[in-house]
Amino acid sequence: MSDTTNILRDKQGRAMNYLRLAITDKCNLRCSYCMPEEGITFAPRKDLMSYEEILRLIVLLSEHGVNKIRITGGEPFLRKDLIHFLKELKGIRKIEKIAITTNGTITARHLDELWELDIRDINLSIDSVDRQRFMKITRRDQCDQVWDCYTQMRDRGFRLKINAVVMKNLNVDDIIPLVALTKQEDVSVRFIEEMPFNGSDENKIGLEWNYLKILEHITEEYGTPKKLKDPKNSTSLNYQIPGHKGSFGIIPAYTRSFCGSCNRLRLTPQGVLKTCLYDEGVFSIRDLMRSGATDDELMAAIQDALAHRAKDGWEAERSRVQNIVESMANIGG
Ligand code: GTP
Ligand code: 5AD
Ligand code: SF4
Repeated sequence: MSDTTNILRDKQGRAMNYLRLAITDKCNLRCSYCMPEEGITFAPRKDLMSYEEILRLIVLLSEHGVNKIRITGGEPFLRKDLIHFLKELKGIRKIEKIAITTNGTITARHLDELWELDIRDINLSIDSVDRQRFMKITRRDQCDQVWDCYTQMRDRGFRLKINAVVMKNLNVDDIIPLVALTKQEDVSVRFIEEMPFNGSDENKIGLEWNYLKILEHITEEYGTPKKLKDPKNSTSLNYQIPGHKGSFGIIPAYTRSFCGSCNRLRLTPQGVLKTCLYDEGVFSIRDLMRSGATDDELMAAIQDALAHRAKDGWEAERSRVQNIVESMANIGG
């Protein structure tokens, strides 16, 4: 039986077994819900957590119950030597699952390596089936490459999820075509409520396309979908249209109705620990490491952060000193 005595727990007793690792803040798209079109400065390399530092942290966390890592960004495949890092990560015995969230623009060239490493769980961010709308959202002409990457992954048998952020006036017309994709394809399409992490403090007033409205819209077209059993700690409420091979999910990321079972820690590319997506960052693991902290000191600081963890995203947001101005590329989603 596994030792449960040293498992990381937060103030509410929630076991923290999942680390979301934003490996880079760089991106080759400019999605409007994530960052402004111009004027972005990416972090200089020396400010990033090095692979060695990240691996040291993960070995330590894995001794305290963390067994799932999701690599995010920015676009993870823009970081040099990512595959080499993934090989090292695979070598950490207690890490049971490694998953990646990617925009699919340059991912296809790495599929052999991912498959060999037994990394099969890929979430692809694709907000539109239409080239013009895709271009308007991402401000880049990469729609065909991304859908081609989707096809290659599907054909090879990766476990795929498509992430689509739903935005008024931009891609509401994509909701039904994306659900239609699940008719023949064994894929999970997830519609995500837009969150205010777009690198500016503009347009932060409420949310029209919340999860209920998305569900209503789909119900109008298809009738009431079948509710599926959601996996433990799932962010998405999952459904299936009767007769479809795949399924769809809705992620109430803004409504924050899944915080009660949240098992996620986050590390920014610069090594800041976040205990909630909506907090301002609790402390710099990088700086503590670089000041010569021992493993015990690092763990004590992480435990202390968890002892003060907000109970949900609303409390975390209320506790902020500054308004939200971050880009999701520096949080990792
Ligand atoms: P798995 O459940 O591991 O497949 O992944 P996921 O859905 O948690 O991860 P993914 O990177 O695909 O994220 C999908 C959406 O869920 C993104 O928009 C994330 O920002 C959002 N999300 C993930 N975790 C949280 C969270 O803790 N809080 C909130 N509010 N949103 C989250
Ligand atoms: N609101 C909701 N989801 C977002 N993502 C990026 N920015 C936002 C936002 N402002 C999603 C991406 C990616 C995931 C990691 O986070 O679409 O799939
Ligand atoms: Fe890049 Fe993802 Fe941000 Fe889009 S959402 S700009 S793909 S990091």
